[in-house]
Amino acid sequence: MESTFLMIKPDGVQRGLIGEIVGRLERKGLQLTAAKFMVLDDKLAAKHYEEHEGKPFYPPLIAFITSGPVFAMVWIGDRAIELTRAMIGKTDALAAAPGTIRSDFAVHTNFNLIHGSDTPENAAREIALYFKPEELIDYDRSIQHWI
Ligand code: PPS
Repeated sequence: MESTFLMIKPDGVQRGLIGEIVGRLERKGLQLTAAKFMVLDDKLAAKHYEEHEGKPFYPPLIAFITSGPVFAMVWIGDRAIELTRAMIGKTDALAAAPGTIRSDFAVHTNFNLIHGSDTPENAAREIALYFKPEELIDYDRSIQHWI
């Protein structure tokens, strides 16, 4: 079992896509471990995206991600990082494969609906940025026996 950090960005919240996205993740067979509806401050946003500081898209990305509420989540499942990255699709909505969240719902790279951790190291770092250990809920779901 692998854990990953996913975050529905302000555009996904504004467009009423929380349920659609969470539903896709549940139906796929992943298990929700933690969730938080929150507004990022500049400090947390800068920590989250520290590896991109200095890139041209960094200032608009920080402005966007702090512009409204986000829905931060931790999901677990077999190969959860790769699996959720595949479900999300490529950064540019035009390059995202049909059936992915970004292909189905996003138009612009700037507003691409959801973030997903890309490596186990980043998943661990991001989970720790947003959640305390006691906020990660371990529970049994019968679905785990069938997937
Ligand atoms: S890189 O340089 O290849 O590592 O960049 P990439 O992985 O494509 O993107 C890193 C994060 O920046 C977001 N991004 C953008 N946001 C706003 N505007 C533009 N033009 C833009 N280009 C990239 C991208 O969605 C990544 O954020 P997350 O939250 O991981 O999706």
